Amino acid sequence: MTSSLETEPVSYPPAEEFAATANAGSELQEAADADRLAFWATQANRLHWHEQWTEVLDWKGADSDYIAKWFVGGKLNVAYNCVDRHVIDGYGDQVAIHWEGEPGDSRELTYAQLLAEVSRAANYFTEIGLTAGDRVAIYMPMIPEAIVTMLACARLGLIHSVVFAGFSSSALRQRVDDAEARLVVTTDGQWRRGKPAPLKAAVDEALAKGEHSVEHVLVVRRTESEVVWTENRDVWWHDTVANASDQHEAQPFDSEHPLFVLYTSGTTGKPKGIVHTSGGYLTQTSYTHHYVFDHKPGKDVYWCTADIGWVTGHSYIVYGPLSNRVTQVVYEGTPNSPDEHRHWNIVEKYGVSIYYTAPTLVRTFMKWGRQIPQAHDLSSIRLLGSVGEPINPEAWRWYREVIGGNKAPIVDTWWQTETGAIMMSPLPGVTSTKPGAAMGPLPGISAKVVDENGVEVVLGETEANGYLVLDEPWPAMLRGIWGDTERYKSTYWDRYAEQGWYFAGDGARIDVDGAYWILGRVDDVMNVSGHRISTAEVESALVGHHSVAEAAVVGATDATTGQSIVAFVILKASSEANDELTSELVAHVARDIGPIAKPKAIHIVPELPKTRSGKIMRRLLRDIAEGRDLGDTSTLVDPSVFESIREKSAN
Ligand code: PRX
Repeated sequence: MTSSLETEPVSYPPAEEFAATANAGSELQEAADADRLAFWATQANRLHWHEQWTEVLDWKGADSDYIAKWFVGGKLNVAYNCVDRHVIDGYGDQVAIHWEGEPGDSRELTYAQLLAEVSRAANYFTEIGLTAGDRVAIYMPMIPEAIVTMLACARLGLIHSVVFAGFSSSALRQRVDDAEARLVVTTDGQWRRGKPAPLKAAVDEALAKGEHSVEHVLVVRRTESEVVWTENRDVWWHDTVANASDQHEAQPFDSEHPLFVLYTSGTTGKPKGIVHTSGGYLTQTSYTHHYVFDHKPGKDVYWCTADIGWVTGHSYIVYGPLSNRVTQVVYEGTPNSPDEHRHWNIVEKYGVSIYYTAPTLVRTFMKWGRQIPQAHDLSSIRLLGSVGEPINPEAWRWYREVIGGNKAPIVDTWWQTETGAIMMSPLPGVTSTKPGAAMGPLPGISAKVVDENGVEVVLGETEANGYLVLDEPWPAMLRGIWGDTERYKSTYWDRYAEQGWYFAGDGARIDVDGAYWILGRVDDVMNVSGHRISTAEVESALVGHHSVAEAAVVGATDATTGQSIVAFVILKASSEANDELTSELVAHVARDIGPIAKPKAIHIVPELPKTRSGKIMRRLLRDIAEGRDLGDTSTLVDPSVFESIREKSAN
């Protein structure tokens, strides 16, 4: 262990002051332990049901192709729960969205205004003949109309498929085809780093060739970019939706009515359309948003920095927060537009109190330097969240100290597109946190760490690493892969078919105190000379070195040791690449974890290849490390990153 780790606390107990007013208390876990289904019934009662359910859970495992039914017989309208309900309760004037455009424009939407907008869109979608169950593709930047469209779909029982606006036209086409979308909603263009970039053009390109299912393309004007128009197919939002009536009555839908499909990458090239339904999904997103973020409606200003193109945007910008009557910031652009102060300017402007982001961004902030956030008054922040990948203790501590003023609790939330909502996280005010640990399953959630045969790893043993499984169904669980039941079963259920457990695809460790540490995707866990070493662990060690800004580690096939460790490292601006430093980094890792974790090769690189959601593409780094041809790079932010890495690693 490094000396810094020895002097830092290993655990941070909740502050008394925070605990005194926290939404969560120890009674939550007690209630879940006493009767798990009754506990979820209580959580479902956070929502408005047009018709009460008759059974909390219907689960037949393999006999129903692992498709659960939650709140059976219940009927609700998801949009009504996220919007109408708050207006009816007298909060129509409360701001729902403080929207901040990238070029500096801003808009404010109260719940009453949001209701009017959603109603207009719902009326227009009905006018063009869309009916419940039809699919709508949403290919839009982070503007209010994107959220309005999602809610209008939910209101009508239309199934939305949001496609991240950074994806290419062919990725869009693939998703449009798979779900057979009848409507595509888009914008003329989107702002990116101070410049407008075309977006509708990508829709045109996607639909240019061959038969497709799209009948309408609805376009919001955002950048005033020139667009090519296809008559009888393309319409402007301002000519249609804007003129529709703002009165619309929400109809109830079955608890299991599909709410959305969201594509995520799997082990094969074809993305999986993860299907989520209504009642269970909204119950769990609402429950977790309330307790994990300690959200106080009317008081807090919440900001989740995700894009609606990802599940975090669905669950923690749209459905969970709005169901809880949030006042939230929605920001259109990148964190360094016009400069690296942008996020902190926004925090100051709106008095953001809850801030939820990804470790990769925290590390980017670290790279930019603490003097940037320190130039701002961030005292409004009272809780910080992390999601998407394991957060290394170094980044965790920096986040707490520099952004959280050494007092804001950090909730490290583990979940997946497939789980729909947060599954593991400390409960602020209740759980003592350890830097880098997701701590444990939330009340109502059941998880195990097991070996290949399903035998639970022994609590407290240092080698107690294993596979994370979810051994009980949960309300927001996926209800399949769109159009591919076999893939659904083989990906998630075949591995522990005998036990009927969901295989999460992540490695995990439970430490002596019972805290869960997520080690990353199973294919990211290396096996060197029979020892299991997490890529995250080595990365964390490297990032703990004062010269390193960011690191990605992969296991490359090695004839002698099974796998060997190859590291790709970005240095801080103040450091210089040379052989001495490389040897120093190898020694540093050996010191931090043990000689077994020593990288066999360290490549100093200017950038790391990342998906548009900010995940490092380790698979591609492995290809480079093992000298293979690169596969599909279409989901990358900047495929040219490879060239520089290849050049460097060839040296
Ligand atoms: O490996 C885990 C990692 O992200 C995966 C899920 O990715 P995705 O479906 O894109 O959803 C990301 C946003 C929920 C998981 O299998 N992951 C997510 N959160 C954490 C995490 N790994 C460690 N700690 C987390 N808090």
